[in-house]
Amino acid sequence: MSTILVLNSSVYGDASVTRTLVAETVWRLQVADPDARVLEHDLGATPLPHLSTASIAGVRGTPASSVELETRAVSDALIAELHSADTIVIGSPMYNFSIATGLRAWFDHVLRAGLTFKYSEAGPEGLVTDKRVIVVTARGGLYTEGPTRPYDFQEPYLRHLLGFMGMTDVAFVHAERIGYGPEAREAAVEQARAQLGALVSERPTLSPA
Ligand SMILES: Cc1cc2nc3c(=O)[nH]c(=O)nc-3n(C[C@H](O)[C@H](O)[C@H](O)COP(=O)(O)O)c2cc1C
Repeated sequence: MSTILVLNSSVYGDASVTRTLVAETVWRLQVADPDARVLEHDLGATPLPHLSTASIAGVRGTPASSVELETRAVSDALIAELHSADTIVIGSPMYNFSIATGLRAWFDHVLRAGLTFKYSEAGPEGLVTDKRVIVVTARGGLYTEGPTRPYDFQEPYLRHLLGFMGMTDVAFVHAERIGYGPEAREAAVEQARAQLGALVSERPTLSPA
């Protein structure tokens, strides 16, 4: 049975562009593979705790206190989910030119040496391989072209974080110019919707490429 891991990170509810597009993408994936198991985290509505002085040993160190042990358990569970997934669908709104802090907290919990990456003589090596990743972004402005392109710290950052853990089969679909009024927003959603439809029908199965 295939597993789809879904990570939403918008702080908006039903009004969220990424949330809508992620839901449609997961629906398409499920139509292609009705037996797929779906694991879902809403990192915007119920964020993971940010790492702190009290909890850091749960992720990097030897946990001893109850907070550290709790953090270790959460991190272990998230990493097990990640390894079990065949396809990962990420909803990533652009906040302050980068990713939402809820999504960042998820990465902070899953990037663990020896489990999701390791250091070898050749440098860092990702241990989360054979995954298909689809990232849906929404941005108020335009970053795929034009003068604000250099300020896209979202796609390069996500590609690096995912690649660092071994995930290189990553497709991005951007809904841009969301802040330019209802017409621009609708056009962006339609365009992203079409791209996602093509992406899933091109490779409807969840098996790795
Ligand atoms: C806290 C916050 C910061 C934002 N920062 C940016 C930004 O740096 N650049 C941008 O183009 N849009 C920015 N936006 C607009 C969002 O990217 C836009 O509303 C997008 O639709 C969010 O995705 P969502 O609808 O799935 O929540 C920001 C929105 C919020 C709430």
